[in-house]
Amino acid sequence: MTEGKLDGKVAVITGGSSGIGLATAHVFRQQGAQVVIAGRNESTLVAARDAIGGNTLTVCADVAKPDDLHTLMQTVGECFGRIDVLFANAGMSECPDILDTDEAFFDRLMGVNVKGVFYAFTHAFPWLAKNASVIFTSSVIQQRGRPGDALYGASKAAVRSLARTLAADERVLAQQVRINVVSPGAIRTPLTTAATDNPDVSAWVESQVPMGRWGEADEVARAVLFLASSDASYLTGGEIAVDGGLGQI
Ligand SMILES: NC(=O)c1ccc[n+]([C@@H]2O[C@H](COP(=O)([O-])OP(=O)(O)OC[C@H]3O[C@@H](n4cnc5c(N)ncnc54)[C@H](OP(=O)(O)O)[C@@H]3O)[C@@H](O)[C@H]2O)c1
Repeated sequence: MTEGKLDGKVAVITGGSSGIGLATAHVFRQQGAQVVIAGRNESTLVAARDAIGGNTLTVCADVAKPDDLHTLMQTVGECFGRIDVLFANAGMSECPDILDTDEAFFDRLMGVNVKGVFYAFTHAFPWLAKNASVIFTSSVIQQRGRPGDALYGASKAAVRSLARTLAADERVLAQQVRINVVSPGAIRTPLTTAATDNPDVSAWVESQVPMGRWGEADEVARAVLFLASSDASYLTGGEIAVDGGLGQI
């Protein structure tokens, strides 16, 4: 058997039951990691665990609830003694019109996308191994102005900023923990089904992307694998855009 890039590593993935998180769980597992996936829906988690195979562990957790994240990281820490890779990936993207956005929605979106990443990191930190790798999922939207996505864009820009500042923390640097961001563009997942299933919307999206097509979750997962592995040993505070050029050209 060939050597895996994550042999023996303990990897926690929030939002690991669908889309980008699930594709990453498959890749991590193939590369030898002990994978732990978290999400809110237990039956989706179990189906994902069965698809990933091996000894994948599932933990029900709502990332908008810091207590859930504490329990998740505590469970993993007590079970395996450490966390080598944290992929804080869970997120939501739907936004009502800005003039119809009430405070409850504002708090819900920021609760999942920003609070969920921040507390995933702080509750994982006591368990992070020396040389651990932390990856946050941001989005191409953090670099662009897209009408209708004000709050989502702001939340993903916050995630990008968090990675820079947390990566500079002296406790993080002392542990040689690397923190990076993956910023997907238009990726075909259950999150984007409404757009991919609508031929007009799908064609419009493709017309906006320099490479002229949607990306696949596996294409993001392979960038996350790079950041998670020692191949990215000199990268921290950085970002990889997996967007077919959408935010770059
Ligand atoms: N697809 C794209 O085009 C695209 C582009 C840029 C960025 N992104 C970002 O990529 C990430 C993954 O998106 P995706 O496309 O893979 O979406 P997806 O297929 O809908 O998967 C989302 C995952 O997150 C989990 N999740 C959602 N809310 C959660 C919560 N409050 N607590 C815990 N888990 C939660 C879901 O499980 P449960 O529902 O069971 O909780 C599911 O496992 C998100 O942060 C998204 O913003 C996606």
